[in-house]
Amino acid sequence: MALYSEKVMDHFRNPRNVGVIEDADGVGEVGNAKCGDIMKIYLKIDDDIVTDVKFETFGCGSAIASSSMATELIKGRPVSEALSLTNQAVAEALDGLPPHKIHCSVLAEEAIKNALDDYYAKHPEKKPQA
Ligand code: FES
Repeated sequence: MALYSEKVMDHFRNPRNVGVIEDADGVGEVGNAKCGDIMKIYLKIDDDIVTDVKFETFGCGSAIASSSMATELIKGRPVSEALSLTNQAVAEALDGLPPHKIHCSVLAEEAIKNALDDYYAKHPEKKPQA
C-alpha cells in the first residue's frame, strides 16, 4: 500500500486556498518545535459564516495537504463548525495519514482555532456565551 493516499497527494500537489487575506478577520499561526513546520491561517467571517479562508504553510507535504483539506472543510461553513473541526476529521477526509504524520493534521486544527481566537479577541461581542 502506498504511504500516502491519493487525496493526500492531490492536496499536496494542488493545494486549495493558498495565499493571504490582507483584511482577514482572524489570523492564526502555529508551529511544531520538533519538525520546525509553520502554518498560518487567515479567515474572513461574515454573519457567523467562514466566507473565505487562506493558508500559508512552510512545512512537509502532509502539513500542506492538511491545511488544504482543512480550509476546504470550513469554507462556507458556520463558525461553530470551524471551531469544532478536529485533526481526526482532517486526516479522515484525506483518507488517512501515516501515524508519524498525524501531528501535521494537528497543526491545521490548532491554526484554525488560533485564528478563531484572534477573531473573538477582535470581536468579543461575537463570542458565544458559555
Ligand atoms: Fe511536522 Fe509535517 S512533519 S508538520
